[in-house]
Amino acid sequence: MEIVILPDAAAVGRAAASVIADVVARKPEGALGLATGSSPLAIYAELAQRVEAGELDFSRMRGFALDEYVGLDYAHPESYHAVIDRTVTRPLGFSPELVSVPDGMAPDIPAACAAYEAAIDAAGGIDVQILGIGANGHIGFNEPTSSLASRTRIKTLTPKTREDNARFFDSPEQVPTHCVTQGLGTILRAGRLVLVAQGAGKADAIAAAVEGPVSASCPASVLQLHEHATVVLDEAAASRLHNAEYYRYTWTNKPEWQRY
Ligand code: GLP
Repeated sequence: MEIVILPDAAAVGRAAASVIADVVARKPEGALGLATGSSPLAIYAELAQRVEAGELDFSRMRGFALDEYVGLDYAHPESYHAVIDRTVTRPLGFSPELVSVPDGMAPDIPAACAAYEAAIDAAGGIDVQILGIGANGHIGFNEPTSSLASRTRIKTLTPKTREDNARFFDSPEQVPTHCVTQGLGTILRAGRLVLVAQGAGKADAIAAAVEGPVSASCPASVLQLHEHATVVLDEAAASRLHNAEYYRYTWTNKPEWQRY
């Protein structure tokens, strides 16, 4: 795992955006795995600037979102269909028909989940998956005890995740109780993973994911099993890492071609 510790959240966004930009430049018809939440917003803002400047073109890229709430109308501004459209598809200039989000309104959820996995496979897999991390170590909506081999499926949100996401809704009761999420096994199949975390509220989850055992109790620890995972952190999110000095040393001494 490559661990990069940067001074602030803006630097985290710029660095992670560079990884994505590199993939898009090399493979303009590739597939990008998209995360919601506040963590990746700086990445999308940075990428949008590069699109505006004519340096990048997402119009032929496919996009696959990680997750969606169950039973939340897509017209609701906090449905991930709406969030992805507002923060990614439009500002980055994706072709809307090439962007997929799991179907939380499907009458047959298991069938919709299987279709989502099939769509990822049909696209040739995800080239690079963007990830945030929940305070309890979840990635996508894979809550603690999610199988490390899991695929796209319905999950029950923990009270903590509903509480964390209540800020996006008028009242905490409006946060849906269930979601559809790519599984940890789905995420592991992406060609590369880029996880970003900012702020002290993520420090414990990051320490468990990076330095703890690989365990379903901390779903993000599954990154330790991936061949090409990069974790980009600001100082606050890195503050509980025992080996932070070593990661800084490694990064400083890494040849340019080996970075990211
Ligand atoms: C959300 C999303 C995750 C996200 C995480 C952290 O519930 N499902 O994909 O990474 O929780 O969110 P934030 O980045 O806003 O802290």
